[in-house]
Amino acid sequence: MNKIPNTFAKVYLVGAGPGDPGLMTLKGKQILEVADVVIYDALVGAEILAMINDQAERISAGKRRGHHCLSQSEITALLIKKAQEKKVIVRLKGGDPFVFGRGGEEMVDLIKAGIATEVVPGITSGIAAPAYSGIPLTHRDYSSSVTFVTGHQSAGDYRSQINWKAIAQGSQTIVIYMGIHNLASILRELTNAGLPPDTPIALIRWATLPHQEKLIGTFSSILGQMQEKKFKAPAIVVIGKTINLHSILAGHKD
Ligand SMILES: C[S@@+](CC[C@H](N)C(=O)[O-])C[C@H]1O[C@@H](n2cnc3c(N)ncnc32)[C@H](O)[C@@H]1O
Repeated sequence: MNKIPNTFAKVYLVGAGPGDPGLMTLKGKQILEVADVVIYDALVGAEILAMINDQAERISAGKRRGHHCLSQSEITALLIKKAQEKKVIVRLKGGDPFVFGRGGEEMVDLIKAGIATEVVPGITSGIAAPAYSGIPLTHRDYSSSVTFVTGHQSAGDYRSQINWKAIAQGSQTIVIYMGIHNLASILRELTNAGLPPDTPIALIRWATLPHQEKLIGTFSSILGQMQEKKFKAPAIVVIGKTINLHSILAGHKD
């Protein structure tokens, strides 16, 4: 790990991983142990927060769909303010800060404000959720390409700027973050792009935690299964033939 400077403040954008505390990086944990301030997101679990040293100031930034505690500009302003007062500031985010985590935007703003920053990657939920469900993202017989894509567009107004046709035709495995709310529209787009109704699909909620919930189905069955099980976000959506391996691989992660 780079030596944490004593004389100048630094903001660390730290990935907390997907929930299982064992998936937090050693480097991220070491920084939490010496942090002066930790500003954390809603998806960061209690066991990760327990790694923060007792002296540190803890601030929840909230951020779940429709329930924002602090706006993005308020978070950036707070990071800049804390960097003027303290030395080791941690912005703790679920998964990886640079994967649908706005870490890039925050880092640009901090650098523009003249503040030293460093990103500490985390294991992203789009990799951990399928892994803990027995779903490889690639496999020499079934998939040689993966796309990570967001299913979230401005709430209540789903006008996708994603080229679903290109993704359907160019990628054998598709991993969708924030895709539950708009799943019906996304499936329509992918079906129009040529994916058949029996395409395998998996929905994984609370990946890597003991209370994980998982639905495995096909394009034609999954919306009914969701309704029946009252399946809710946040979850990762996986699409592709490697899902069929889950019956062999699930339960063999330990
Ligand atoms: C704003 S994105 C943040 C992604 C995060 N930076 C990452 O790398 O995992 C939030 C979305 O990530 C996914 N997600 C994050 N943590 C998850 C978990 N433990 N289980 C399932 N999905 C998760 C969900 O799709 C959720 O809506």
